[in-house]
Amino acid sequence: MARDSLDRRHWHSVVVLTGAGISAESGLGTFRGAGGLWEQQRVEDVATPEAFARDPELVYRFYNARREHLCAGEVQPNAAHRALAELERSFPGNLALVTQNVDNLHERGGSRRLYHMHGELMKMRCQRSGSVFEAPAYFDAADRCVCCDEEGSLRPHVVWFGEMPLHMDEIHALLEDCDLFVAIGTSGNVYPAAGFVQVARQAGATTLEINPEITEGSGLFHHQWRGPATEQVPRLVSLLVGNQGTSV
Ligand code: OAD
Repeated sequence: MARDSLDRRHWHSVVVLTGAGISAESGLGTFRGAGGLWEQQRVEDVATPEAFARDPELVYRFYNARREHLCAGEVQPNAAHRALAELERSFPGNLALVTQNVDNLHERGGSRRLYHMHGELMKMRCQRSGSVFEAPAYFDAADRCVCCDEEGSLRPHVVWFGEMPLHMDEIHALLEDCDLFVAIGTSGNVYPAAGFVQVARQAGATTLEINPEITEGSGLFHHQWRGPATEQVPRLVSLLVGNQGTSV
């Protein structure tokens, strides 16, 4: 379904949505599919408010292990994260980067303006006040909160199933105003992010999916680039910044 050729337009307002696939080549596992995180650990045991109420130690342990892995030296931003940071620096129009990822590889790759709609692994939140703090590599129920000085009030600042994602009003406003929407490395299984492509299309945007696999939502995109993020995202950035005539 070729709409406008991507290389023949001047884009004013671009929204990029990223998912776990953009960090796969940095050594962070994705969630679904063979070997994915949710195959090793049941969502309902570690990623719901009920799980945290039932067995907080298991939930702290799960996120402490993920945090420890993220901080391990071998996990580094890849060419796709760095290319999006370059896009932020060089794109003459408006660019919004929205990520479902709780890792910090976009920031470490150089992005400065982004929306973490599912929260951030390297942050923790006081359940009493809602205040958000940088998280140490390890924390659990025994740590006292810096604001209320209570034990057990700190939780990971991640959005669990059944909770409302963050920054939704701003993200919707950006989608309704964009003329190009790009989804990178996301399976399109989890709403509301999976519905962003339809919001953008209704607003008249051209849409592009970057993913090595066909996904649940592939048919909703005008353009599909099949391949790993480290190849396809630098290609996109060259096109948007340099207008180097890449065709789709
Ligand atoms: P998924 O694990 O559902 O999907 C990852 C996608 O990345 C798949 O479509 C893969 O084909 C693709 N992929 C794999 N390697 C890639 C590569 N090198 N380059 C580009 N794409 C690649 O992850 P998400 O869609 O991000 O939410 O999952 C959405 C949400 O579900 C997550 O934010 C998380 C999870 O449960 C919460 O925890 C709230």
